[in-house]
Amino acid sequence: MPHDLAALLARAPVIPVIAIEDAGLAEPLAAALVEAGLPLIEITLRTPAALDAIRAVARAVPGAVPIAGTVLDERQIAASLDAGAQMIVTPGTPLALAEALAGCGVPVMPGCASPGEAMALSRLGFNALKFFPAEASGGPRWLSAIAGPLPHLVFCPTGGVTLANAPDYLALPNVACVGGTWITPKAALQARDFAAIGRLAREAAGLKGR
Ligand code: 3PG
Repeated sequence: MPHDLAALLARAPVIPVIAIEDAGLAEPLAAALVEAGLPLIEITLRTPAALDAIRAVARAVPGAVPIAGTVLDERQIAASLDAGAQMIVTPGTPLALAEALAGCGVPVMPGCASPGEAMALSRLGFNALKFFPAEASGGPRWLSAIAGPLPHLVFCPTGGVTLANAPDYLALPNVACVGGTWITPKAALQARDFAAIGRLAREAAGLKGR
């Protein structure tokens, strides 16, 4: 895996995954997450506010690493980079998207959920992969099993990961970190309850990585 991606993933055991409806929340939210020890922040391109939210984090929150998530096509790669995303994550990775990502110029964690997908991505040079949807696809047992034939790959399992089951993932040698939405509950975001989000983030940041 490229050195810069390894260094990024080593910065926190958990990547908060956020669907943000109001870009105005992005700056205080990211500041709370960074302060709590979670500098990598995945903002999913599932809402109209997402690109503006990435832009706000990139511009105004020192120490934050804004990640564009749910990148589904080549057009969204360009839009993410233009907004200031410092990393790109996909939930799954068809070949055309993977090829475009391979030359995009920032660290990338493409998504996969099967050995064949992981192998195809590895052939393109991607060795740190999002495993999604983790719980529905086999969870820690899948990750343990794939370490046999594909020991050079590391994963960020996401999808169904919680504070309760994250330690089972983080104990595995081929898990670099985990991702999840539990740190930023919708109700807390809507209420602008950054203190509550900060508490959840501190708990997550305290989880033990490899
Ligand atoms: C993602 O895109 O990574 C997932 O939607 C996160 O899923 P979760 O809500 O189960 O954490």
